[in-house]
Amino acid sequence: MTKKEYMSRMSVMKRAVLLLLLLLAVGSNADPTVDPTVAPTADHTAAPDPCHDLNNKIHLKDLHKLEGEWVLFWSVSDHDDGHSMLSNLKSSHVEIHADNETFIMTERNLYKTGPNRRDYFINETLVHNADDHDHHNIHSDNVRLEVDGQHEDYNDTADIIFYETCPECMLMTYNVKEYRFLLSYRKDGHHRDPEKVKTVHDDHKQHAECLKFPHDKPYSYDGVADFAHKKSAPPTEPPAPDAQTS
Ligand SMILES: *[C@@H]1O[C@H](CO)[C@@H](O)[C@H](O)[C@H]1NC(C)=O
Ligand SMILES: *[C@@H]1O[C@H](CO)[C@@H](O)[C@H](O)[C@H]1NC(C)=O
Ligand SMILES: *[C@@H]1O[C@H](CO)[C@@H](O)[C@H](O)[C@H]1NC(C)=O
Repeated sequence: MTKKEYMSRMSVMKRAVLLLLLLLAVGSNADPTVDPTVAPTADHTAAPDPCHDLNNKIHLKDLHKLEGEWVLFWSVSDHDDGHSMLSNLKSSHVEIHADNETFIMTERNLYKTGPNRRDYFINETLVHNADDHDHHNIHSDNVRLEVDGQHEDYNDTADIIFYETCPECMLMTYNVKEYRFLLSYRKDGHHRDPEKVKTVHDDHKQHAECLKFPHDKPYSYDGVADFAHKKSAPPTEPPAPDAQTS
C-alpha cells in the first residue's frame, strides 16, 4: 500500500467514525430519558417523576375543582384498623360541593358484612388560618353519620388533603389520629374502563411509595359493584357492536 492509498483509507475511516458519532448523538437527543437535565414535557415518551404529582396539593380556594361525583378506585392504609375497614369495603361513592368558603362531602360506603351501609356527611366552613401556611388542609370535625339509615353519634376528626393528579382523578390523604388512608378516586362515569385499570394501579403504587404507605393490602374497586344509593352502570349501556350486526 502506498502512502497515498494509506492516507485515503484513513480519511474514509475517519469519515465513517464521524458519521457513527453523529448518529449516536442524534440518537441520544431523540431519547428524552437520556438527559436527566431535560425537564419532563408533554411528550408522553418521557417518564414523569411519580412523586411530582404529590407536590401539587390543592389550595383551599381551588376546592371547587373537585365538584362532582367520584368513585373510590383504590385505597391503602398504614394501620391494621384501616386494613380491616378496607378489606370489608364493597364500594365507596363520594359527592363534593365546594367553594372557597364551604366544603361539603357526602361519602356513601357499602360493606360486605353488617352494618352494610355507612353514610358520612361532612360540612366544613373553610378557615383560612394565618398559621395554616400552605392552606391545603381541611380539618374535618363536623361529621354526621348514618349507619344503615339511622343517625349515630360520631365525633372523630380528620385532616384531609387533596392532590392534583390526572384529569378525571382525585387523590386524597385522610388522616385520623392514629393512622392514615390514601384514597384514589375516578370521576363517576369513568370508573368502568378496564383498559385503564392496570396503568392506573401502577401509578397508585408509586403514589403510595412516595407518601410512605405500604401497599400490600389495597382496596381495589371491582368495576361493577353498585353504590349505596345508585347503580354503578349508567341506566342505558350502549349495545355491544356484535348485537347491532346480528
Ligand atoms: C371567595 O371568592 C369570592 C368570589 O369568588 C371572593 O369575593 C372572596 O374574597 C373569596 N374569599 C376568600 C376567603 O378567598
Ligand atoms: C352546612 O352547614 C351550614 C352551616 O351550618 C348550613 O347552613 C348548610 O345548610 C349545611 N349544608 C348541608 C348540605 O348540610
Ligand atoms: C366521642 O364519642 C365517644 C363514643 O362514641 C365518647 O366516649 C367520647 O366521650 C366522645 N368524645 C367527645 C369529645 O365528645
